[in-house]
Amino acid sequence: MNVSSVPSANIESLSQESRVFPAPAEFSSASRVKTMTQYRRLWSASVNEPERFWKQMAEQHLHWFTPFKTVLQWKVPDAKWFGGGKLNVSSNCLDKWLGTATANKAALIWEGEPASDGRPGEERVLTFQQLHREVCRFANVLKRHGVEKGDRVILYLPMIPEAAIAMLACTRIGAIHSVVFGGFSAQSVADRIADCGAKLVVTADGGYRRGSVVPLKKNVDEALTIVGADGERLAKSIEKVVVVRRTGNEVHITEGRDVWWHRELEYVEDQCAPAKMDSESPLFILYTSGSTGKPKGILHTTAGYLLGAKLTHQYIFDVQDHDVYWCTADIGWVTGHSYVVYGPLANGTTSLMYEGAPNWPEPDRFWRIIAKYRVTILYTAPTAIRAFMKWGDEWPKKHPLGSLRLLGTVGEPINPEAWMWYYQVVGGGRCPIVDTWWQTETGAIMISPLPGATPTKPGSATLPFFGIRPEVVDDQGNPVPKGSGGKLIIRQPWPSMLRGLWGDPKRFKETYWSEVKGAYFTGDGCRQDKDGYFWIVGRIDDVLNVAGHRIGTAEVESALVSHPSVAEAAVVGRPDPLKGQALVCFVILKTGAKASPSLRDELRAHVGKEIGPVAKPDDIRFADGLPKTRSGKIMRRLLKQIASGAEIKGDTTTLEDLSVLAKLTAAEE
Ligand code: WTA
Repeated sequence: MNVSSVPSANIESLSQESRVFPAPAEFSSASRVKTMTQYRRLWSASVNEPERFWKQMAEQHLHWFTPFKTVLQWKVPDAKWFGGGKLNVSSNCLDKWLGTATANKAALIWEGEPASDGRPGEERVLTFQQLHREVCRFANVLKRHGVEKGDRVILYLPMIPEAAIAMLACTRIGAIHSVVFGGFSAQSVADRIADCGAKLVVTADGGYRRGSVVPLKKNVDEALTIVGADGERLAKSIEKVVVVRRTGNEVHITEGRDVWWHRELEYVEDQCAPAKMDSESPLFILYTSGSTGKPKGILHTTAGYLLGAKLTHQYIFDVQDHDVYWCTADIGWVTGHSYVVYGPLANGTTSLMYEGAPNWPEPDRFWRIIAKYRVTILYTAPTAIRAFMKWGDEWPKKHPLGSLRLLGTVGEPINPEAWMWYYQVVGGGRCPIVDTWWQTETGAIMISPLPGATPTKPGSATLPFFGIRPEVVDDQGNPVPKGSGGKLIIRQPWPSMLRGLWGDPKRFKETYWSEVKGAYFTGDGCRQDKDGYFWIVGRIDDVLNVAGHRIGTAEVESALVSHPSVAEAAVVGRPDPLKGQALVCFVILKTGAKASPSLRDELRAHVGKEIGPVAKPDDIRFADGLPKTRSGKIMRRLLKQIASGAEIKGDTTTLEDLSVLAKLTAAEE
């Protein structure tokens, strides 16, 4: 992999940033880590004696049915944490609070999307005790339908409390959940079911999105009919579909296979003993894009993941008992797993969940919700912040945001302009910002400020969390001098790291553990400044980050070539002021097919159908050939330059003659 592909424009704009914001004094006085001296001392101890540190944390923060005997067994790339221990994730999130003052505190505050006729959104509040009851009931429903320890369950749901309930119910009985984001298509659902051999799907009759209904159940029906290359149904392992009634839309119910969530609850008890799970029992699989056409099933296990989510949530958001914490991520992404559900509940924190979009019915939706529930901590994505900036200051200014005390960002590099806007307009210049760097694979935040201690710099995720040792290295794996760009790796194993790719140990090793010997390779480019602060500059593999969503260029390419008119396709990213990166596709048509605006629309829709609306290309350019090296490799660097150049004016359906450019560049080399 070539680190020179790190976007250089990005590095430059970031390296000019010199503003520093100290942690506000009133914040530090109440927070867990109050000074940099304290942070440095704790961090050094944690990475110098990691087993000692993690042992202490696991004993202190998790509730164990059986204590663990070993802390870490490590043979690259396989880690086993807390061997011999037994515990249950749902009891660490729920049972733990029963009989305490937290039992009757709100665990989830849910705000539904307002109706298209202007009626306000519904509200639901579930206390820890109520959530415990609902989780037990649904766990019994799963059992009733034959779901056992180790079975896989697909969750394809809108942002409604049932999504969290279903996740926790799986953990209660030791089933492995795999949440599929509602913006993925029937084909994607079928592929994921086939990959993990799931037994049951939980879905809804529909989900609301900007006033219209996303037909989730219809997509599942379709997914269950799709036939794979071997002529067999991809989803043949599915025995049951549980359907939540959300929209009241008419849906087709297949007798014997489909059941309604609310009806099922009538048959079950509201007590369900938590399964005693081994520390390393699989907890969930979450599919994410990689550099090939096939998404990777990232596997997380029980104890290490929960410890990572809980500890980072507690320290990085510095949660206090009175907090109303809102992470705006969808449950279909890892951020929704760790920081809407598991981290907050394990800490007894009130977690707010919102069903809809930030600009429905008006662009003040977030600010209205913050004012209504007096939200104290907001955790959102740079792409959303840039959209808010574009919509204008008047929307946040309409609402009192004085309840906020801490702001967070995640998912992509934040440009200093967006950081400053967030700090001033949303945070009123009072609230520290935690820019948190992590990945689906890392399970929990790896690099982030601690809000009471770390001075922040707009655009930098700052310094590593306890127990984490990131480094910036060159192609040979040697640390690069401060100020130079390189690959971001993590030297030591940590409890919440992925344990593998479902069913593909070879790819696991190749992708993450072969780039730099003995270390985890993140796929990100990075630079450390003179203070040791980490500045992430984005992906250096073939993964794009579009509006905070990971999209593999190879996935989009294979979707495009599956269209009958397409002979070849190359997909690259170009910088986008709002989404961070936009998807640009160069398409070579088969003989006889004609470039036209309608074919372009058709191809966009085709990608939407193959992968999901989330992966629809921003730009499709027809070309007569792709620039290739003599050995036949597509010259992506050149395509990126073309894609980032000025928009082609006029009739963009004309074919671009890229072969000429290829010849020119080849001559130079
Ligand atoms: C990017 C999301 C810069 C990065 C939690 C990473 C970031 C990928 C940041 C993982 C950040 C995430 N600053 N870049 N604070 N946070 N990224 O798996 O490229 O959806 O590799 O996990 O997002 O995306 P994923």
